[in-house]
Amino acid sequence: MSVEIHPTLEALSTAAADELVALARASDRPFHVALSGGSTPKKMFELLAARGTSAAPWDRIHLWWGDERCVPPDHPDSNYGMTKRALIDPLGLAAANVHRIHGEAPPDQAASAYEQELVAALGTPPVFDLVLLGMGPDGHTASLFPNSPALGETKRFVVANPVDSPLTKGKATRITLTVPAFAKARHTRFLAAGADKAATLVSVLEGPRGKFPSQLISGADLVWHVDRAAAAQLHKDHG
Ligand code: 6PG
Repeated sequence: MSVEIHPTLEALSTAAADELVALARASDRPFHVALSGGSTPKKMFELLAARGTSAAPWDRIHLWWGDERCVPPDHPDSNYGMTKRALIDPLGLAAANVHRIHGEAPPDQAASAYEQELVAALGTPPVFDLVLLGMGPDGHTASLFPNSPALGETKRFVVANPVDSPLTKGKATRITLTVPAFAKARHTRFLAAGADKAATLVSVLEGPRGKFPSQLISGADLVWHVDRAAAAQLHKDHG
């Protein structure tokens, strides 16, 4: 695991976009990437869209999501909806390459359907080429929130996870990939930016293990892309 500290969110987003393009180009087959939701990756998506379709092999890049809110795709909280506006529509990406979680469906049904699609495409356990994850101020990632049932899931790859957090405005159900679904990814990147992440980030990276959901994510090639504000309390050079 390593940490790359960038001066700004823009620099972090540029580095993450460059990596996605380089990894996709280095492959000569379909490139499957699991996207995170939230706000951090939006800039990265916008940068990729601004570069145009010729900047990456978009004809063989497949978009998946690490989690989704239980809302319709056009709802302002939809992770797919944010990506559609920032990346999919501007580049006119092929529908066959976009694998959204159906947040509008009954949660257990949406989770089962997504797991079937995921396993059919990427195997058991699924092997993503790239997983992008964010981290909440409570150390959650995807929709693996502290003290939520999905944290202990060792068999299923996608579940409906009942959560209760100020970050979800109280009780809510989220569809999330589980730790086993992320574990075999060839490349895993956390994107974390902002001063509100600094206290949690130092605990996640330098504190005792097993305290935060983000610490459950392992991977052959795990890199944290963070900005200076989020890295402000780090003591070690995680280079
Ligand atoms: C979601 C995300 C979630 C997100 C973190 C960080 O659905 O919200 O998947 O895990 O990555 O909450 O969110 P920000 O990028 O908005 O800080």
